[in-house]
Amino acid sequence: MNTDHTALTDREHAVTTEVLDSFEATPDPRLREVMRSLVRHLHAFARDIRLTQDEWDAGIEFLTRAGHITDSKRQEFILLSDVLGLSVLTVAINEPDAAGATESTVFGPFFVADAPEIPLGGDIAQGAGGVPCHVSGQVRSVTGEPVEGARIEVWEADDDGFYDVQYPDDRTAGRGWLRSGAHGGYRFWSVLPAPYPIPHDGPVGDLLAATARGPMRPAHLHFLVTAPGFRPLITHIFLAGDPYLDRDAVFGVKPGLVVEPAHHTDTAAPDGSHPEGSWAAITFDVVLAPDDRR
Ligand code: BEZ
Ligand code: FE
Repeated sequence: MNTDHTALTDREHAVTTEVLDSFEATPDPRLREVMRSLVRHLHAFARDIRLTQDEWDAGIEFLTRAGHITDSKRQEFILLSDVLGLSVLTVAINEPDAAGATESTVFGPFFVADAPEIPLGGDIAQGAGGVPCHVSGQVRSVTGEPVEGARIEVWEADDDGFYDVQYPDDRTAGRGWLRSGAHGGYRFWSVLPAPYPIPHDGPVGDLLAATARGPMRPAHLHFLVTAPGFRPLITHIFLAGDPYLDRDAVFGVKPGLVVEPAHHTDTAAPDGSHPEGSWAAITFDVVLAPDDRR
């Protein structure tokens, strides 16, 4: 190793040590641990790729654009976390799969806290376009006991691939909540979900394009299921045969969440109604893990 290179290497490591030391007196031990680890990994990353000044300027420009496009309806930093797999990794760290329980996946940015309550068997579509889809199943514990009264929040995009909150007219469609009934049973009408692109008209979309990755998510229906004594479950169901199952832009697919819809035409639905034309039916049981973390 020549002298210049040794000097350079020493200087690089001295900077890292100096920055690590600057966090030494952080009163909150967790914040200290987080900041020191962040600095170690960030510095190692810069050394690993021999980060150029132009590249770091481009990185700053990227983050600045992400900040500018972010508002109360658009969160570019969550999208960035999603396409880097950090969102689903955080789920894996914090929601380790409990034996026998339904698996968790990413939350996504389109949940709305005050969605309308619908009765058992009601319709969450409320004008969202798509083939009517009857969704039903049972909520139960990992030991098989039915969970009555679980709160089930569901939300989905319409068949144009947009959530209601992405339209400028304040509509509420494709979302709602209901409670599981006797024996943990639940059922509602929705529309058959369709694949859709995550918002890709900003810097995250540019990143996907520059790296030859697509913005598509396979068709899915979001669930958030809560019940006293159980871990909240954030998940989706995906449809078997979807062309994007193996290339979800946000890495949310898990084999146990893929369901096979039954397709029907002009037959009576499970609730005795007679939908006009084609409709689909999905059954999906929700198995909740005990909340043993309190
Ligand atoms: C969603 O499924 O709604 C979603 C998840 C991550 C990024 C964008 C959308
Ligand atoms: Fe979604």
